[in-house]
Amino acid sequence: MSSINEPQERESTFYDSPYLAEHYDIFCEKHMTEQRIDVPVYWEQLQKIQSSAPQQPFVVLDVGTGTGRILHGLASQASQESYDLSTVEFIGLEPSQDMLDRAALNSQMDHVGRVAWEQGTALDLVGVPSLEGGAKKVSMLMWAVGSISHLHEPEQPTQFLSQVAKVLLPGTGRVIISISHHLAPKDLKDAAIAPWENPPRLASRAFPDIVYQTTQLETKTVGHVQHDTREVLVIKTLPGGTEVVVEKNLVHFKGRLWKENELVDTAKNAGLELADIINSEREAFYVFQLPA
Ligand SMILES: C[S@@+](CC[C@H](N)C(=O)[O-])C[C@H]1O[C@@H](n2cnc3c(N)ncnc32)[C@H](O)[C@@H]1O
Repeated sequence: MSSINEPQERESTFYDSPYLAEHYDIFCEKHMTEQRIDVPVYWEQLQKIQSSAPQQPFVVLDVGTGTGRILHGLASQASQESYDLSTVEFIGLEPSQDMLDRAALNSQMDHVGRVAWEQGTALDLVGVPSLEGGAKKVSMLMWAVGSISHLHEPEQPTQFLSQVAKVLLPGTGRVIISISHHLAPKDLKDAAIAPWENPPRLASRAFPDIVYQTTQLETKTVGHVQHDTREVLVIKTLPGGTEVVVEKNLVHFKGRLWKENELVDTAKNAGLELADIINSEREAFYVFQLPA
């Protein structure tokens, strides 16, 4: 591989460039194997919540929506089943504009009443423009695929859940939060991530002659935070076959490890009651509600 004009390594969140947004989708396709598929869980919840409370509009807020995988999945499921989403409003909330730009490219959502892709954070749900300062209430709120572990600072889960309590519709509204089993170990010493074999390169479909190459550099557990450092290279093959690195991403993931009952207790302190826990092979979906 040529090192001519190699770009400077940049600190990256894993989600913060047009290349990485595409890489995320390709990575999910490869790794969202049968046991990881979660859209059916959210689909069942949507129908259940809507049948118990057909408010209009029925607002669905997907926190950390990324490239919109879950909302696109729900829209597609509704099409297949001729389920009416014309009074449903989807809001995809996400800090990375690159992920949102990619989410908005998918145009198979004409049958959804309203779709908004909005930049923001889980720590300020009242500030989500479509929620009008908390005046518009959310019927279904989710944060998928264990990503609440991005809140690795000690006070962040409390901040997030108190924001949830401000925007959720009391009584019939539901919050579904996924926690990955591997981030809720029985014992912290079981939390270390096993070093993984570096995966094969993934070919881009959106960018000509581009491949993505990921190398795991280090993993360690410090207190209740799991650290996982990876390098993601974006490599272009030039005419003639020379490979050049066009983007060099250094990603320091920090993932919160959950103590037993921590999420449920934190939610309770924010006024949220546990309604259900749904377990799949890879994650647990905690369902909360606010008293009417
Ligand atoms: C693993 S991805 C999940 C994306 C999508 N929900 C899915 O299931 O494919 C985690 C997402 O959470 C977002 N995220 C990280 N910190 C966040 C925060 N404080 N508030 C909201 N979203 C956040 C990331 O930018 C990323 O897009």
